[in-house]
Amino acid sequence: MTIPWHHKTTIYQIYPRSFYDSNGDGIGDIPGIIQKLDYIHELGFETIWISPFFASPQADTGYDISDYTDIAPEYGTMCDALQLIDEVHKRGMRIVFDMVMNHTSIEHPWFKESRSSRGSPKADWYIWRGSPLPMGEGPGVRVKPNNWQSITGGSGWHYARERGQYFWASFLPFQPDLNYRNPEVKEAMLNIVRFWLGKGVDGFRLDIFNVIYKDAEFRDNPFTFKLMPTEDDPSGFFQEAKYTLNQPESFTFARELRNVCDKFGEKLLLGEVSGNKQIIRKFLGKENNDGLTLVFDFEMLGFKFAAEYFRELIRNTEKHFPDPFMPVYVFSNHDRRRSIHRLGNDPRKAKLLHMLQLTVRGVPCMYYGEEIGMTNARFPFATALDPIPHKFKFLPRFVFDILGLTINRDEVRTPMQWDGTRNAGFSSAEKTWLPLHGNYRGVNAEKQSDAKDSLLNTIRTLLKIRREKRPLQEGSMKLMDNLPAGVLGYARKFGDENILVLLNFAGQEIEFQFENQECIFKLSQRDERKENTIYLDGLGGMILKANAMPKK
Ligand code: GLC
Repeated sequence: MTIPWHHKTTIYQIYPRSFYDSNGDGIGDIPGIIQKLDYIHELGFETIWISPFFASPQADTGYDISDYTDIAPEYGTMCDALQLIDEVHKRGMRIVFDMVMNHTSIEHPWFKESRSSRGSPKADWYIWRGSPLPMGEGPGVRVKPNNWQSITGGSGWHYARERGQYFWASFLPFQPDLNYRNPEVKEAMLNIVRFWLGKGVDGFRLDIFNVIYKDAEFRDNPFTFKLMPTEDDPSGFFQEAKYTLNQPESFTFARELRNVCDKFGEKLLLGEVSGNKQIIRKFLGKENNDGLTLVFDFEMLGFKFAAEYFRELIRNTEKHFPDPFMPVYVFSNHDRRRSIHRLGNDPRKAKLLHMLQLTVRGVPCMYYGEEIGMTNARFPFATALDPIPHKFKFLPRFVFDILGLTINRDEVRTPMQWDGTRNAGFSSAEKTWLPLHGNYRGVNAEKQSDAKDSLLNTIRTLLKIRREKRPLQEGSMKLMDNLPAGVLGYARKFGDENILVLLNFAGQEIEFQFENQECIFKLSQRDERKENTIYLDGLGGMILKANAMPKK
């Protein structure tokens, strides 16, 4: 059976504001991305996902859209967007846009019209609930329609005096949720999907896809003692998100969307879903993968750097996403800590982490700068451009440090560090939209390109091996047993070809009995061999060619 391209690709995420500024205004842009396409191509990624660059007041840096078929002027023009699609395709790569289907900006003409009056033609395009007050407001106590909390904490109901009613916003108050129970809304959004597919995009990353439908009866969410939402359980702030997330209608909608996209060929649909593996599976489809083609598993963003942790993660992932499903391996994005931050900013650990990511069965998704080990910056909450920290300004910073939460997402969105010159070669502007990370003279792409054993060159080599070896792209996978503590090993098989991967998560060297195999890649300082013995440096790894799959 042939496996679809989107199940064997490799994804590189670009945050457009921070990638490359071509016109010196301090903000990254589409022509800038075009100028840097060769960098991504030579690095070896096959698919690019770009965070939103559509018309937007930028209150949530583009995740608040005011026109889905227009481009924000600071990023370029429609012509630039079409040229980008074209330039990506010319290089034999694919491009995926970011679709924010759940909500628009409060500045979207649809919302303005919907808010204007209860009798407007788009009155029912958003989720409005009555209030006891007459239209035009008046004195007295307003009662929120129910106890639902937004994903970012606090009630998600916001009052609009024009209608004397509340509208619902799952995320932030300026991002009102669309009402998908209104067929006109669904059709309007699917037409936007069709519009971009018609322009040649290869699919979409789907923003908070699991909140699209809310309970039709608006029942109160139950109480829970859980304070903070976690990756596998989005309930938090003392509320179980029973009626606000992962509703059955959203699973059905995944299949509807898939049908629309299938008309345009094999398209990638990558869902952002908060929930455990069972929930993710519901978005992918029951027996067949007839829903979204891929879904992030955010449990991985909280990874622990240990062989046992990854062994269990892989075992569990394989159990829930066997063929024809495909997991996504993701360790960083524009909302969470940079992966190397979890590794004490140690590039040697980052090499091993990405060696796993690029050889395990799944689609790897890397966040810009992760390939050179860009680290989290640290900025005060008070001056944050990201709206989220402003919600939590009243709490001292150490509370979030203890909880291990990156509340100020500016810290993971600093401009790409291209070289050691001013502004890291990102922009010629006096002031960039966010300050550069102070470490750019030491950590940058140019420097790492020149260093043979750098993180960047390690990733480049691993991507090349992955492109050449079908077992790594689309082979089956079996975890190996009886390896020394600290060592993770798995075998990949496609046809007659077998590949073994050994990763030593321990800091010290390990030597063990192993039938001799041909080594095709080694993450190690030493190259010493003895008959039927494997040496792995501390944090070393190996890719071996094997005649057969290991018995155990
Ligand atoms: C997603 C995006 C995030 C955005 C939010 C609201 O979680 O990744 O950046 O703020 O949705 O659209």
